[in-house]
Amino acid sequence: MQKPIIILNYKTYLESTGDRGRELTWAARDVMQETGVRIIVCPQTPELFHHKGYGIEVFSQHIDPIEPGSHTGHVLAQALIHCGVTGSLINHSEDRMPLPDIKKCVEICRKNGLTSVVCAESIEKVREVSQLKPDFVAIEPPELIGSGIPVSKADPDIVRDSVKAVTDPEVKVLCGAGISKGEDVKAALELGTVGVLLASGVVKAKDPKAALRELVAFK
Ligand code: G3P
Repeated sequence: MQKPIIILNYKTYLESTGDRGRELTWAARDVMQETGVRIIVCPQTPELFHHKGYGIEVFSQHIDPIEPGSHTGHVLAQALIHCGVTGSLINHSEDRMPLPDIKKCVEICRKNGLTSVVCAESIEKVREVSQLKPDFVAIEPPELIGSGIPVSKADPDIVRDSVKAVTDPEVKVLCGAGISKGEDVKAALELGTVGVLLASGVVKAKDPKAALRELVAFK
């Protein structure tokens, strides 16, 4: 079975803020080096710089549909690049944006060499945003986010049908919500995705490094 892509979203948990967040990044880097599994971390925007240069990919949790100019408080692609960021989540369930903005963000990522991961809450949304040709589309049913109930087990059809809904072979499918164990990741791969997005299963674990090791230890 191919190795999964694991995107670890730090959200705004205290367990992934400040020094604790950087320790989490080092733990993810260590597990990636031990296992060869591609792990990507997503710290909060103000802390992105603090995760630069540790030998692990860092994505932003958000990017704004703006070009350089007078956009106070917004997140500019070039500033993310300066922080060592190589990609961004777009339209996460907790940070939704209208379709025209999603389209603009995917274009900005492409123009600036940033990997785009567009999140979608339904199969219809997966179909719609996949037409924008992001690098990844992530199906995440909102009702399962933070539930500890893995989408790949609770609703395999939404994952399987999301994979089917993406007709462009260049657009890869991820799934997220409630993922916490290696068996959840294995199920996600068996349903046709290339990996998972997750947060609480690792960030809020007693031993996040052990949780990451377990996540990627499936056969
Ligand atoms: O971006 C992934 C996130 O929304 C999933 O949250 O806590 O269910 O892993 P969680």
